[in-house]
Amino acid sequence: MHGGGFAGNPGGGLPFAGIPPELQTRVEKVIADEPAWSDPDVEFSQVVKDRRPLSLRRLMAPHRRALVVAAVLVVVETVCLQAGPQLTQIGIDRGILPRHLAVVVGAAIAYIVAVAVTAVASGARVAWTGRIGQGLLVDLRVRIFAHLQRLSLDFFTDEKAGVIMTRMTSDIENLNQLFQDGLVNFAVQGLTMLIVTAVLFHMNARLAMVTVLMIVPSLAVLSLWFRASSDRAYARVRDGIANVLSDLQESLSGVRIVAAHNRQTQNIVAHRNVVGEYRDANNETARINGIYGPGTDLLGWLGQTTLLLVGGWMVLHHQLTIGQLTAFILYLNAFFAPIQQLVQLYNTYQQGRASILKLRDLLLTEPSVPEAPDARPLPPITGEVRLDHVTFGYDPDNPVLHDVSLEIGEGETFSLVGPTGAGKSTIAKLVTRFYDPTEGSVTIDGHDLRSVTLESLRRQLGVVPQEPFLFAGTIRDNVAFARPGASDEEVWAAIRAVGLTELVERMPEGIDSFVHERGSSLASGERQLLALARAFLARPRVIVLDEATSNLDLQSETKVEAALDALLEGRTAIIIAHRLSTAMRADRIAVVDQGRILEIGSHDDLVARDGRYAEMYATWISHLEADHALP
Ligand SMILES: Nc1ncnc2c1ncn2[C@@H]1O[C@H](COP(=O)(O)OP(=O)(O)OP(=O)(O)O)[C@@H](O)[C@H]1O
Ligand SMILES: [Mg+2]
Repeated sequence: MHGGGFAGNPGGGLPFAGIPPELQTRVEKVIADEPAWSDPDVEFSQVVKDRRPLSLRRLMAPHRRALVVAAVLVVVETVCLQAGPQLTQIGIDRGILPRHLAVVVGAAIAYIVAVAVTAVASGARVAWTGRIGQGLLVDLRVRIFAHLQRLSLDFFTDEKAGVIMTRMTSDIENLNQLFQDGLVNFAVQGLTMLIVTAVLFHMNARLAMVTVLMIVPSLAVLSLWFRASSDRAYARVRDGIANVLSDLQESLSGVRIVAAHNRQTQNIVAHRNVVGEYRDANNETARINGIYGPGTDLLGWLGQTTLLLVGGWMVLHHQLTIGQLTAFILYLNAFFAPIQQLVQLYNTYQQGRASILKLRDLLLTEPSVPEAPDARPLPPITGEVRLDHVTFGYDPDNPVLHDVSLEIGEGETFSLVGPTGAGKSTIAKLVTRFYDPTEGSVTIDGHDLRSVTLESLRRQLGVVPQEPFLFAGTIRDNVAFARPGASDEEVWAAIRAVGLTELVERMPEGIDSFVHERGSSLASGERQLLALARAFLARPRVIVLDEATSNLDLQSETKVEAALDALLEGRTAIIIAHRLSTAMRADRIAVVDQGRILEIGSHDDLVARDGRYAEMYATWISHLEADHALP
């Protein structure tokens, strides 16, 4: 059944779904042309190596050379573009007025050359800086992703998933804008303004002075106002989009509960409010841009009319040539065009800077379960687990485990039982070092977990958590998750061990069948079994099962338990179970309540002790009997 793939019989009553041969050659050609991504050759360490805060400058530093090329292109582009009015002036003053056709033609040709060079330089600049920008973004994306992989569980519990997503979506998108055209346009526009100012003063200092005095103060006031109000408005926009995304994310992941409780309407209302706030924030920025844009336009037009008046007067009094006046007016245009652009760029810059700050914070977040700088790899363990006077709270002021001491021997099967919220899963999380104890220590084979590398620890530990997670991918990918190199035989053996052979064989492509995201196309018992199979395949020295069989019917559980006996043979196991039938099979059992260990012993010991366990056992037995007594 398995491994069938595309080779299956094409005529089996089903419509032919293969690739026609004439297409096949084309497909092969396309595949041959695909860039070959080399195998991942990535250095990853749990320890944050680069502790310097993220900044634009640091991001760009490795691309210094490429940036110099970009700068040269920018200068060529800008200088050539601004040659236009100057050539116009020459054309008018030395060509048209004295009626020298040759000069007119010469000026026109020079103009054409300048424009052509501008176009080429500008094209090259756009392509080149685009490349640099994407290079920066790849570095940054990978760096953030790596950091997320490094962060500890509590970060993901405390931070909304939607908010984390915005770091990778809208924040990166803002930087994309900034790198793509923001920074370089900033350079182009800034340089243009400088050149224009210099040329104006060079042509006629008096008229330039008049122009500057006329424009600059009012422009400055307008710009300061714009800066302040747009900073505020864009902060609102950013919060708005973060809220929109996290609301979306949350209702998508909770879609089943939403539907089951008829909360669609309320959800839509809530989402409309979040989206409405985002709209308001955007309207605010539009209003501000609506004042500033036309405001600067108005200033520009007023400037031109005044220039016409003052310049015209100067021409009449022979203090200025017509060509110079024309060039002045053209340059004034060139002066105002960048201001308009700079406004947009300022917004881009603002957004980008805010994003950089957010990303900087994210990158500066230290994993709460850090790897010690001098951590050693944990040598192959025999599997002796100890908790030594462990006190722990997710919030350190509010402990959920109080002075817990446990000794689990090599190869022992140890069970934790107790009421909901007692702290059983918490103990499991400490043994797998998802958290560090507030006081006391957790050791394996005498090695304090804080002194060994996380990689070497987790490689020798297997966990089947209370809520198993499956990835969108094939059954094989999911089962062989911890050991991607496992053979088909091994995968099937693991599937057989948990009694899923029938289910997988029924699937159209066996172990190559696809499971949907989070395994939503599987029953929760099946999900648990796949998670168990994953642990089977990994064959760790120490295995932690947190309610790993709680969603199974009794019959499946019995089957799995036989398999479990085989798996656990010779391994240390910590089994958390509500069903006493599961717990009973352990060598020793600890009863946990309100973060304390009440009693420890074998099933028989504990029943004989007549304590809490005996009470639980009696209740369980009476329930069983009641069930059997039913007709
Ligand atoms: N991430 C967390 N942040 C804060 N408190 C938590 C967190 N996870 C669990 N708790 C609290 O710690 C206590 C112990 O939880 P734990 O998950 O260990 O219980 P449990 O014994 O596994 O219960 P169950 O049998 O229902 O799985 C509970 O009061 C719970 O509310
Ligand atoms: Mg639990």
